[in-house]
This record gives sequence, structure tokens and C-alpha cells, in this order.
Amino acid sequence: MEYPKHVISTEQFLDRALLEDLFQLTNHFLRADAEHAVPRSLEGRMIMSLFYEPSTRTRVSFEAAIRKLGGDAITTENAREFSSVTKGETLTDTVRVIGGYVDAIVLRHFEAGSAALAAAASPVPIINAGDGAGEHPTQALLDLYTIRSELKRLDTFRIALMGDLRFGRTVHSLVHLLTQCRNIHVYLVSPEALRLPPKYIQLLAAHHIPHEEVASLHAVPRDLDVIYLLRIQKERFPTATDYEQLHTSYRLDPEVLERYAPNATIMHPLPRQQELDPAIDLNPRAAYFRQARNGLYVRMALLSRLLAPRHA
Ligand code: NCD
Repeated sequence: MEYPKHVISTEQFLDRALLEDLFQLTNHFLRADAEHAVPRSLEGRMIMSLFYEPSTRTRVSFEAAIRKLGGDAITTENAREFSSVTKGETLTDTVRVIGGYVDAIVLRHFEAGSAALAAAASPVPIINAGDGAGEHPTQALLDLYTIRSELKRLDTFRIALMGDLRFGRTVHSLVHLLTQCRNIHVYLVSPEALRLPPKYIQLLAAHHIPHEEVASLHAVPRDLDVIYLLRIQKERFPTATDYEQLHTSYRLDPEVLERYAPNATIMHPLPRQQELDPAIDLNPRAAYFRQARNGLYVRMALLSRLLAPRHA
């Protein structure tokens, strides 16, 4: 079991032992934080968050994770406007230079494939915090951790992935990880135009995971264990009209939930839009704020394994 140098895709985490290790350490940091006893394993380390796209949870939880572990976080939250990119500098030149100043770079970029490109040029670890409509591996790790902590198991569940499965990078990363779960059934609930890309469908098939593409929640069994909702990724649509046509088509409210999936744990990477009615927040199975908080501890565990492997 070995952690990768760069974190580009969850394809690098297809190892049950490694996932268990990460989740154990996550539990450890969760408890240690409650007791104000987090080890300063990143003391003397400096990590840059280089963000070319907006972010709330990912950037702030990464920076909080770094600081809680005693490291220094420096940040460019709007690199598209405030870095030398405006002078025409390439991403590879930028990370080559920044890699000379810091010990790791957490990168969010608007182009799929950018994290891999950056990793090929960077002298220090690159952690992909979302590359366009590509992947968002740390989100998927915290999503899987949340499934485990909500259901108290990593196997034997029925999950519906619902919404924009085409452009939703968190779901792309999650599908890789779901191949490590046994005895699961996956329902892919999306409008025709936003279906999961074929490569991820093929992945499920190659791992013999039963999966069905359906157009609405009406078509899934009532004993669903998890609904993972995703906002329509407006910024990835070629034209506004395409978006307007689709964005009201999927919505989970208390009535729909009670009717179609009364026992499901509800997850969402956030931010939400119309697809998730705030009235659901009162449901004890609404896990999305716990999910967002789990991100802090999963990222602490990951950073610690990547940058201070001898410590924890
Ligand atoms: C997601 C993202 O950026 O891909 N947000 C997040 O990191 N929690 C999901 C989204 O933007 O819809």
C-alpha cells in the first residue's frame, strides 16, 4: 500500500487497504481535534492553494487542515485574474516556479486534464482540487468516508447518483471509488443530455457493479440507501439555453423524498441550487453539512500521509 506522490484522480486510490488507512486516520484527527490534540505534523511545511475557479469548502477546508496540522497555507483564490496567467504565463511554468517556493500545491483549474499537466511539470506534489469537468478526487474521498460514517459500512448499499452526471466532476471521481465497494447497486438518475460519460459506465461494468441509467427517481427502488445529488454545472454548458432547459428538471423536496426514498441518506457536495430544497435540512438523514465538515478531516489525513508519512 503506497500513497501516490501527486493526487490527480481517484483511480490512484483503488486499494481497499489504503482507503481504510485514510479513513482510520481521518477518525483519529476528528477525535484529536475535539480534544485539541492535533499533532503538528506539517510544522515547517508551506502549502499553496492555487485556485483558478471559485471555491468555498474545498479551499477553506484545505487551508484549515494545513494550519491545524501546524503548516503554513498561502493562497491565490482567483489565479485567473491575479496571477501571471493574465500576462500569458502557462500553467506548467507557473507550477514550476511556485514549486520552488512551497512543499505542495493544491490546484483547482477550469480545464479537465490540467492537474495531470501540472503534475508532470511540478517539482512538488500537486493535489487536484477539481479540474474542469474532469475529477475532484479529494471530494470523492470525503464522500466515501461520509457514506461509511453514515451507513456504518462500506459495502452492501443502493446508491442513486442524481443530477448533472456529465459535467459533475465529483461523481466522476466517486465512481472510481465505488468500484472498491462490494455488493452495491448504482442508479444513475439524470436527464438524457447529462448522462454519465461512457468511460465511467464502462468502469462500473468492468467491475461487475449492477447499474441502471434512469430518467427519474420514480424508477429506483424505495429502499435506496443513499441519494447523492449534484447541481447542474452551469459554468460548463456551451450555451445558456441548454442550461435553462435542464436546470429545473431535478429537485428533491420532502414530498419526493418521502414518496420515493424515505430511508435514504442524502448527500450533496454543495453548493446547492434549486435541486435540493432547504426544507430537507431538517431531516436527520440530510448528511450534506456533516459531509462538508468531514472534508476537513479527510484532507488532514491525506495531507499528513502525503507530506509527513512518518508522523501519524
Ligand atoms: C463541487 C465542485 O467544485 O466540483 N463543489 C465542491 O467542491 N464541494 C461541486 C459543485 O460545484 O457543484
